[in-house]
Amino acid sequence: MQNDIALFSELCDELFREELNKPVAKPIPTSELYNKLDLSLNANGIVDEDLKNTLKQIIKSTPKTASRSFFNQLFGGRISKATLGDLLAVMLNNSMYTYKVAGPQVGIEKQVIKNICALAGYSANSDGTLAPGGSMSNMMALIMARDYKNESIRALGLSSKMILYTSSASHYSISKNAALIGIGRDQVRQVNTNDKGEMLIEHLDKLIEKDINSGYEPFFVNATAGTTVLGAFDDIEALSEICKKYNLWLHVDGAYCGGVIFSKTYRHLINGLEHSDSFSVNAHKMMGTPLSCSIIVTQHKAQLHHSFSNEADYLYQTDGDDFNLGKTSLQCGRRNDALKLWTLWKSIGTLGIEQIVDKQFKMAQIARTYINQNKDYTLYSFDNSISVCFNYKDIPASELCTALYENSDLMVGFGKFNNQEFVRMVTINSLLEEEDILAFFATLESHVVEKMLNMNAS
Ligand SMILES: Cc1ncc(COP(=O)(O)O)c(C=O)c1O
Repeated sequence: MQNDIALFSELCDELFREELNKPVAKPIPTSELYNKLDLSLNANGIVDEDLKNTLKQIIKSTPKTASRSFFNQLFGGRISKATLGDLLAVMLNNSMYTYKVAGPQVGIEKQVIKNICALAGYSANSDGTLAPGGSMSNMMALIMARDYKNESIRALGLSSKMILYTSSASHYSISKNAALIGIGRDQVRQVNTNDKGEMLIEHLDKLIEKDINSGYEPFFVNATAGTTVLGAFDDIEALSEICKKYNLWLHVDGAYCGGVIFSKTYRHLINGLEHSDSFSVNAHKMMGTPLSCSIIVTQHKAQLHHSFSNEADYLYQTDGDDFNLGKTSLQCGRRNDALKLWTLWKSIGTLGIEQIVDKQFKMAQIARTYINQNKDYTLYSFDNSISVCFNYKDIPASELCTALYENSDLMVGFGKFNNQEFVRMVTINSLLEEEDILAFFATLESHVVEKMLNMNAS
């Protein structure tokens, strides 16, 4: 093992060099992938030296999500102490289902959940777990809401048309999960949004009325704290009033920007969170831990247990349900995703995570200011969002982003809202500084100039 730890360290050095010198890896066309790299698996293995060289080649060609040129997704960067925690979780290799095999790691997960519940403003009767990602956290919320509405569903299955509500700007996992858990995609009502991508409360109210009058059974409203494209925040306070009126479960999908629970400056964006029934947040997004670290908490501790527990003599042999976390999780064997967040939190404190979150808004503001001061740009996103959406010189966003990627200049993606396509630059890497944001625009502009010069020359 020691040899492989040394090899790991050497490979990390290679990765760090690459990130610095070639922050955007040259993409390999899919048609050439298996010719360019030896990815084959054969009857006989290869010697260590060859393995090392193969791994180095793979590292060179793998997209660099921690580099200063990565703005493509809702995660990025590498925060050292969180990475340390995740590496340790790999080495310890516990499974989180029982106290017997995870010991203090169970206490670590419980502590993380307890603190997230407190930051959400949840009561002492709340609990939670870690899911394999934000999509699965949303699924867990839906399952709890479904069973809360009708506790016999777990045994008997669905017997009525149960309806759920989410905005047209929410994440696709809501509809996908509705299909997966037997509710059905057709029972998902897409609520209209305003120009900022925030759910329209009046439209929601009308849809619920209509469904009740048609004999359907509304049970769930999904509010988004940071929509995937624009980074918009639904009005949780107003939604909680609607949910109270119709007796519906309110879930807050904070996968993207639920991290604002740490920020005194931005906490107001999720005012009313304490009135929700469940809340999910991806620490691998705003809190900057490695993938994946998704937490789901609920004010209904008993419901979490009711929806996810299952007896298993061969597994639960010591200790009580409170410490055998398999009784409240989606999976059976489960990797330790809590340790990376705990290690980060322990080392920099709640105030340190607040700084991580606030920095992302600061970088987004720098980007918006640059765009607003330059007439070649059109801005489509709003204040209090870390998704900076814009177009440059009427160049189609899809063409621009793809050219930047193929040319190894920048990793940035495009999005669409109300039929308008635009570049979506995400300032989620809290290790970036103002000069990195300005370098982003300088690279983009020089790429366009170069391209125009080439076109004129040919
Ligand atoms: C608002 C929102 N919810 C849920 C998800 C899904 O999270 P995951 O990719 O961890 O499944 C995303 C992903 O970007 C998201 O933006």
